Amino acid sequence: MLERIFEVPGLPGFDMPAELQRLYAGDLGFEPGPRLYSNFVSSLDGVVELNRPGTSSGPALSARNEGDRFVMGLLRACAEVVVVGAGTMRAEPGHLWTAGYIYPPAAAAFAELRSRLGLPPDPPLCVVSRSGDLDRSDRVFQEQDVRVVPDLDHLPGGRMLCEGGSHLFGQLLDQGRVDELFLTLSPLLAGRAGPGRLGMVEGVELLPERLLGATLLSARRSGSHLFLRYSLTR
Ligand SMILES: NC(=O)c1ccc[n+]([C@@H]2O[C@H](COP(=O)([O-])OP(=O)(O)OC[C@H]3O[C@@H](n4cnc5c(N)ncnc54)[C@H](OP(=O)(O)O)[C@@H]3O)[C@@H](O)[C@H]2O)c1
Repeated sequence: MLERIFEVPGLPGFDMPAELQRLYAGDLGFEPGPRLYSNFVSSLDGVVELNRPGTSSGPALSARNEGDRFVMGLLRACAEVVVVGAGTMRAEPGHLWTAGYIYPPAAAAFAELRSRLGLPPDPPLCVVSRSGDLDRSDRVFQEQDVRVVPDLDHLPGGRMLCEGGSHLFGQLLDQGRVDELFLTLSPLLAGRAGPGRLGMVEGVELLPERLLGATLLSARRSGSHLFLRYSLTR
């Protein structure tokens, strides 16, 4: 499904089932120990949120790209915990932050990977919410292990996948907590007609005072979609 364009030699690789190796065009893995990696899909012009009630931003931005859903699933399959901000959870009623939910065709292979990694079938979901204003009747509270934390000091630790949104990601960047970024660059132009649409980092200004850069670790493609993996330098 994905084609590998570039990869830094010597990246860690998990013991991935052959099906996942084939779809990802190689192995994915992480350094042992606590790690926070984030995943976003962005339009070519840097929009990650469409600000249209009733429209789910991610699928619209990625053009429902199969490779993007697969990579989301693979990143979830590797995670000890998935972290989202309350805004992202409120924008996605009925969503489950599990690997098999986002890409069912590889559900069995994701489950096999989690078993090999000694992880439970699905990662718990950690929702960061100061207000605690969340719809507890949503199916995610019944079907996934959901923990709500009031601030970043209560993040659980371990190998954490942060799926946004931009305000939470901005805080995490600001505090130097992000180790890696997985960015799907979609070949669509989203446009902006005012302040409503979000970029990937909101609530904090970095340049020109703070030079927060990244090193490209790998680049894959599926058609004109790019799948970029960066290590963040602090
Ligand atoms: N394109 C993509 O890849 C992508 C990825 C993720 C999300 N999105 C989209 O982005 C939108 C949501 O992004 P967003 O930036 O508006 O929301 P967000 O970052 O997901 O959530 C913001 C909320 O998180 C809580 N929060 C953030 N930082 C906190 C902190 N340090 N301590 C305590 N609570 C904290 C607050 O919740 P309370 O208000 O409850 O206090 C805050 O209002 C959605 O439309 C979603 O679909 C797109």
